Amino acid sequence: MEPEQTSEELVRGQAEIWQHMFSYADSMVLKCAVELRIADIIHSHDGAPITLSQIASCIDSPSPDIPYLTRIMRLLVRKNIFTVHHPSDGGESLYGLTHISKWLLHGSDISLAPMILLQNHPLMMAPLHCLCKCVKEGGIAFEKTHGRQLWDFASQNPEFNNMFNDGMACAARIVSRAIMTGYKDGFGCIGSLVDVGGGTGTMVAEIVKSHPHIKATNFDLPHVIATAPLIDGVCHVGGDMFQDIPNADAVFMKTIMHDWSDEDCVKILRNCRKAIPEKNGKVIIVDFVLQPDGNGKFDDVGFTFDLMMMVNTSGGEERTELRWKKLLEEGAPVYDGVSHIAGDMFHQIPNADALLLKWILHDWSDEDCIKILRNCRKAIPAKSGKVAIVEIVLHPDGNGTFDEIGLVFDSVMMAHTSRGKERTQLQWKKLLEEGGFPRYKIISMPALLSIIEAYSE
Ligand SMILES: C[S@@+](CC[C@H](N)C(=O)[O-])C[C@H]1O[C@@H](n2cnc3c(N)ncnc32)[C@H](O)[C@@H]1O
Repeated sequence: MEPEQTSEELVRGQAEIWQHMFSYADSMVLKCAVELRIADIIHSHDGAPITLSQIASCIDSPSPDIPYLTRIMRLLVRKNIFTVHHPSDGGESLYGLTHISKWLLHGSDISLAPMILLQNHPLMMAPLHCLCKCVKEGGIAFEKTHGRQLWDFASQNPEFNNMFNDGMACAARIVSRAIMTGYKDGFGCIGSLVDVGGGTGTMVAEIVKSHPHIKATNFDLPHVIATAPLIDGVCHVGGDMFQDIPNADAVFMKTIMHDWSDEDCVKILRNCRKAIPEKNGKVIIVDFVLQPDGNGKFDDVGFTFDLMMMVNTSGGEERTELRWKKLLEEGAPVYDGVSHIAGDMFHQIPNADALLLKWILHDWSDEDCIKILRNCRKAIPAKSGKVAIVEIVLHPDGNGTFDEIGLVFDSVMMAHTSRGKERTQLQWKKLLEEGGFPRYKIISMPALLSIIEAYSE
């Protein structure tokens, strides 16, 4: 039998239920603060605390209701969104900003105001009334409520479209600061980049501001691109990522995959694969990684986002790291008779009679190549196993068609990798011997690359 609850626990439970029951009122009072621009009013007085009459005098109304405003401010103070100071001389109370209200400022680089207006708009809140219906009948709450899916609805409603894009843009501006600090090296060797589902281009604008060498494309549905501002160094392209994605060295996708089911994500990922170069192409995904047992600052809101994805999209969800791994593996193209295996060649290479390494070893130092080759050696049969290495064989003094370009590749390897290089025949010989391959044969072709067949005995 369950131990009886103490009356203290029971009362605490009751209080929590009242809190949950009215948490929508907290959202509404926050939205009201944004609509009345209360944080902006205080901020415009040099950020110093001001009286309620000063706040009221700046509200866009001929006769604001002071008792109403007082009670709204009292709740906002209680929620730590503003501070209040009651002067000991009995003078008027003074209201100030906190670290929370700074996120409510309009037009600031770190503002969540447009997102608050979007998420608390009746059009976005109405589908939440359908949760129970969706459990019983299935379906998408947004579609049940508004008669069409979110992106289609936005394409038909310019006001909603603008509000949605503004909401996304403010979050993109915030995230871009974190990305430009935490991922600044990630953009270094990218010549061109396409932001897929990039909205009106806020994120890509920040990327080119910090990395002006990048040729950037902002790609989104035509009704979104139609409202995008001109941005220096950014080309806007309208289209459908399920059809085709513009080519670039890298695809960037922020909060796109969480809008879609696994099946749809795999379709998008396959189009990403087609859009980037086979070698050195990359896809940068900025999205939630759900931490079911986490207690980090954003772990709880990850679950709320998951619910919002369920309500507003056709199969979107937030995913754990394991789910991401599975999805990304499935995003690789499928060829008959080929299985994809994720792993680390420095750790272990799957067993086979023969291995093919095209343009792998030139990315690595001699030391690393020897580690890879030793793992190759373990993966093939001790007798009659072979490794086909497709690489440049340098002829520093040669005057063949590809000899000069070989040297250019060598300097590219030097610039882009950690001590990778192109190698002469003698260097290959030495490397193969140290890697456990006593015998090899070089097959030259009328091409930049040669085949170096290395044998296990
Ligand atoms: C959640 S928003 C993210 C916007 C932006 N990446 C950001 O984080 O600020 C999803 C974006 O995907 C776009 N989108 C939806 N379906 C699309 C499609 N089939 N092709 C291209 N973009 C699409 C939407 O128009 C929207 O701008």
